[in-house]
Amino acid sequence: MPSATAHGNHHSPNPSSKSSNANRNRQNQFSDRRQKILQQRKSLPIASVEKRLVDEIRKNDILIIVGETGSGKTTQIPQFLLGAKFCHDGKAIGITQPRRVAAVTVAKRVAEECGVELGQEVGYSVRFDDTSSSSTRIKYMTDGLLLREALLDPYLSKYSVIIVDEAHERTVQTDVLMGLLKSVQLARSNSASHGQGLNFGNKSVNSVTSLEKENSGQSNGFLKKDHQYAPLKLIIMSASLDARTFSEYFCGAKAVHVQGRQFPVDIFYTRHAEPDYVDAALITIFQIHLEEGPGDILVFLTGQEEIENIERLINERLTKSTKESQKLLIVPIFAALPSEQQLRVFAPAPSGFRKVILATNIAETSVTIPGIKYVIDPGLVKARSYDPAKGMESLNVVPTSKSQALQRSGRAGREGPGKCFRLYPENEFGKLEDSTKPEIKRCNLSNVILQLKALGVDDILGFDFIDKPSRAAIIKSLEQLFLLGALTDECRLSDPVGCQMARLPLDPVYSKALILASQFNCLEEMLITVAMLSAESIFYAPRDKLDESRTAMKSFSSPEGDHITMIKVYRAYSEFLEKKSIEMGKAKCEKALRKWCKENFINSRSLRHACDIHRQILGHVQQMGLSLASCGDDMLEYRRCLAASFFLNAAVKQPEGTYRALASGQVVQIHPSSVLFRQKPECVIFNELVQTNNKYVRNLTRIDYLWLTELAPQYYAVQN
Ligand code: CDP
Ligand code: MG
Repeated sequence: MPSATAHGNHHSPNPSSKSSNANRNRQNQFSDRRQKILQQRKSLPIASVEKRLVDEIRKNDILIIVGETGSGKTTQIPQFLLGAKFCHDGKAIGITQPRRVAAVTVAKRVAEECGVELGQEVGYSVRFDDTSSSSTRIKYMTDGLLLREALLDPYLSKYSVIIVDEAHERTVQTDVLMGLLKSVQLARSNSASHGQGLNFGNKSVNSVTSLEKENSGQSNGFLKKDHQYAPLKLIIMSASLDARTFSEYFCGAKAVHVQGRQFPVDIFYTRHAEPDYVDAALITIFQIHLEEGPGDILVFLTGQEEIENIERLINERLTKSTKESQKLLIVPIFAALPSEQQLRVFAPAPSGFRKVILATNIAETSVTIPGIKYVIDPGLVKARSYDPAKGMESLNVVPTSKSQALQRSGRAGREGPGKCFRLYPENEFGKLEDSTKPEIKRCNLSNVILQLKALGVDDILGFDFIDKPSRAAIIKSLEQLFLLGALTDECRLSDPVGCQMARLPLDPVYSKALILASQFNCLEEMLITVAMLSAESIFYAPRDKLDESRTAMKSFSSPEGDHITMIKVYRAYSEFLEKKSIEMGKAKCEKALRKWCKENFINSRSLRHACDIHRQILGHVQQMGLSLASCGDDMLEYRRCLAASFFLNAAVKQPEGTYRALASGQVVQIHPSSVLFRQKPECVIFNELVQTNNKYVRNLTRIDYLWLTELAPQYYAVQN
């Protein structure tokens, strides 16, 4: 790998010129930074065991590497392997992450460490954003993305090594990926004439054999015999010290432990339960800032909306405080943050300032942020939960597990002794679950099943899951896919609908909505809808400005519901953008846009994210040849299309004003943020169920009840 040698001592033709001085300055800065990075790399705990690790990886086809967060696993191990020539014959090292932010920020960091341009030797690839190229040798990506690559390249033949990182997180995609990699590895080593000895026990051989049987006759050639593939190295990396589950799953694979560096962390609890943890967090931030020594603060919050809310509250309070106590730098980090802003969390605060990082649980183990001495942990996390009987998935804020709480407090002690403030009483800690239940056991599986079917795995119940989801959940999800037309009577992927759905990197119902929209001549509108629904919290309404925000929203809100309202906002934004960028140029236009968003109580970050997603999905549907038409002002067709797509999420008004979700029978209410909150139409479709004290539905559109039997007879003609 080329390494930059900018020492600022090149011969300069005109040393006295101003520009060459500036140049030299820049070069000096550059080389200072490289020196510093080199030093940092050398001082990481993992640096001292490089040789041993590389040897172990050479000796073992599957290796489990366990190491505390911050020891250098994610950034260093791929570089060790590249240096030790694991990328023979132009093959690459793939490293998967459960979170896109981690994939992106780590790739940027490693590109810098290697002194190469991002997208060359080091790159990343995540849904809706790809910087990798044919010269990429170290590729960071999300686990979901690697699963998608397997659709086109079932043997993952581009890779010589695949590292599954953050395996302890046990996201659905990580679990499915591990199952897939297990069989890909076996298939590749079987195909190689010099068949490497693999450590597979009977169980996995059987499961792979059954996969082989299922696949015979499949067009994707999952186990084509006429090819020879080089063996694949697998590395599973985890920050949880318990490697047993992984080792057992990979038939007794060896696990090695990388020692971390952990200083003592003092844990503080509140005396009583806090009724308002946002307020408690705010108070704690200022208490630390005013009373404690230097060091940055990391606050764990549950999502973008909450983070942005606290960000505003802190800023409000800062404007009222004295000059000296103002020296706080607030940096948010969450998944939908534009990628150029994500790197801000890693930059040190200006001298005299204290950094406050407002993070989702992404900062628990996925990204290591230097400089943290104080952690504030309200003890909550947003998690998926699924009720197979009702077929409903929802996102709920729930208590963390003990192991999450420990990971969080550990973040305070990486560089020196630290403090962690848990915003709950000590006896609550004892009541927490030891560890988090794998996501696959608490989510709707239709996406996973669609992916597996597309990979040629037909026997879902027989798939070698590390933790098997319940039979009820599998069957319910199969039923949903069948109702969406993705599966045939024989439970195979239907052609073209099921195949098209599997190609789109979206939730199956959204994919179906796009496919249907091309028939209803409203694909333009549906693309906007799906993009807006995929970005979190487009609107914000601070509590003290509810009326103002309602008035601002009036110009966009549609009596038909939230979906059309979102389309209007998107279009107004695009028009404004187009007009202003011609009028005033890029930089000024950005500012004008932010102002426009602020005035309209729209979250400019989220809207930009939605535009990004829109551009990407547009690319996909164009490739698929769907007809891109607009229904113009005829929103009736569009609403009918919503009904045809989201019929599983229909609800009717009951006499007392609540709603009954038709598929599940649950009693729900319209979320106060909906434009239909006051109107209460007879029948609606919705996109989201949120559960707080009540069950709320969000993102609604008014529909005609009779459309359901007309447009979704497969469900309503029989059932209701
Ligand atoms: O994966 P693991 O938690 O073991 O550690 P890592 O992510 O490889 O991080 C190693 C070091 O790199 C940490 O000290 C981070 O502070 C640093 N790092 C950074 O400065 N900037 C990044 N974008 C990523 C990591
Ligand atoms: Mg890591």
